Amino acid sequence: MIVLKTKREIDVMRVACDIASAVLQEVVEYIRPGMTTKQIDEFAAQQIKKMGAKSAFLGYKGYPCHICISVNEEVVHGVAGSRRLEFGDIVSLDVGVVYRGFIGDLARTVAVGGCSLAAQHLMDVTEQALYEGIAQARPGNRVADISRAIQTCVERHGFNVVREFVGHGVGRAMHEEPQVPNFVDGKPSPRLRPGMTLAIEPMVTAGQPAVKVLNDGWTVVTRDGSLSAHFEHTVLVTDGEPEILTWHERTPSKLKVS
Ligand code: MF3
Ligand code: CO
Repeated sequence: MIVLKTKREIDVMRVACDIASAVLQEVVEYIRPGMTTKQIDEFAAQQIKKMGAKSAFLGYKGYPCHICISVNEEVVHGVAGSRRLEFGDIVSLDVGVVYRGFIGDLARTVAVGGCSLAAQHLMDVTEQALYEGIAQARPGNRVADISRAIQTCVERHGFNVVREFVGHGVGRAMHEEPQVPNFVDGKPSPRLRPGMTLAIEPMVTAGQPAVKVLNDGWTVVTRDGSLSAHFEHTVLVTDGEPEILTWHERTPSKLKVS
């Protein structure tokens, strides 16, 4: 069953999503080469608390961290620890918070300091695929229209979408129906209706799409060791244009010299 949100519920979700996106922005501005992923998770925990919310991930099926931090060949669900970020790494940051019973969920991949053109291209295409998918989140369309737009964008650029993990409905629960795959498989696909809230989240690999889970039970990595990127927004289906609930301004880099 797909839960349609009422206007009042959507207003609470807006706040949850604002908090999640503000936390992500703070984390992006905080990270520097040399930091451990554990340090970043602790900073994220502080920010989530400061903004009056709770991590939606900590304790979920036993997940041990406040946010997911996935470096280079790590695709999603990276577990923070003693790994140090190096200049040139790309790091996927996935933030989910609970506020007054509702969840906001978003992710973004960023370079640590700077990165190769190839890594930047992978990130750009993944983000573009997210927005191509979001553009299809309109009443009358089906979930598969979102999936197709994402897959087409990714494969046109010679990259691949991960099959084992998918986007999802989000609301009081982190994973609600419907599933939002980043590929089409010909299965029947639900029609989109106003009031649906979807976490749309392309997970893209520079090489082969196959992934595996590490021995920590969580961290998903590419089997071939190729780089991966992940962008996610929580999106509201309205009567008209899709509304990105986790939208946030990006402040200009503090390092920029005028
Ligand atoms: N955004 C991710 C998802 O939709 C985050 C889940 S991490 C978990 O699956 F640890 F909470 F599972
Ligand atoms: Co998600």
